Amino acid sequence: NEIKVFCPATIANVSCGFDVLGLALETVGDEMLIRKVDKPGIHITKVDGQELPLETNKNVAGVAGLALLEKSNYHGGFEIEIYKKIKPGSGIGSSAASSTGAVWGMNELLNNPFSKLELVKFAMQGEKLASNVAHADNVAPAIYGGFTLARSYNPLDIVPIPTPNALFATVIHPQIEVKTSDSRKILKTTISLENGIKQWGNLGGLVAGLFREDYELIGRSLEDHIIEPLRSILIPGFHQVKSAAIENGALGCGISGSGPSIFALSKGEENAQRVALNIAKVYDEIGVDYEVHISKISA
Ligand code: HSE
Repeated sequence: NEIKVFCPATIANVSCGFDVLGLALETVGDEMLIRKVDKPGIHITKVDGQELPLETNKNVAGVAGLALLEKSNYHGGFEIEIYKKIKPGSGIGSSAASSTGAVWGMNELLNNPFSKLELVKFAMQGEKLASNVAHADNVAPAIYGGFTLARSYNPLDIVPIPTPNALFATVIHPQIEVKTSDSRKILKTTISLENGIKQWGNLGGLVAGLFREDYELIGRSLEDHIIEPLRSILIPGFHQVKSAAIENGALGCGISGSGPSIFALSKGEENAQRVALNIAKVYDEIGVDYEVHISKISA
């Protein structure tokens, strides 16, 4: 009647797939303890590691959990303890980790009445609370693992994409907080046809590269002509970090989700480590505090 859940960090957008593409990390994430209780509803009894509300309606795990309960014929409730390691506003899917961990664990304890697609829909309610937009590009990979494409939002259509085995992510988090809602406000609502052509060329290239395990194609496709030019101004030393990543062998580098974390993808752990070392050096030199992670992409 109790389950321990690993709630992975995720990288949304992956440069060319704003709001549609995302990936889950294998070894970076939160933990959650969920237990079935008689008292109906969702009861968040503990949040460790970060200052987050315990009220069900104000906590993304609570809101996602309530969305599941509403569709379920279970009449009891759940207690949730959250052990947060992912900082809110870091750009690696902190809210998605909480929302998906809750609904994943509850579904397990109820013997899996809901499909992955349904779990994504419940977890999207948590994203809506966090950022005013029910985007799926963090919650879908957190539920499915690996890379996912949200081909359509209405109706919701999630396409899991295979992950080449040697693909590793390096993520550096300059220690500032950027709210997704704020970093969406600076975006334009229209794009030029010229940039559209570049962007969907790259998105198709990246997806093809992942299927073909063609690391060079993956690298060539990791470009963002639409969002990065606008959002990179919010991130200290973004261009220096990106240059250092590419010079040290990363396949590509860009903003993780809505930032401020910056991600790089590399072939092999050794390359990912060299990238980590050298981008950390950039922040050491310009005096920015940071946290850096290396992880395989989950399968
Ligand atoms: N696609 C979303 C955005 C992800 O970039 O705003 C937020 O993590």
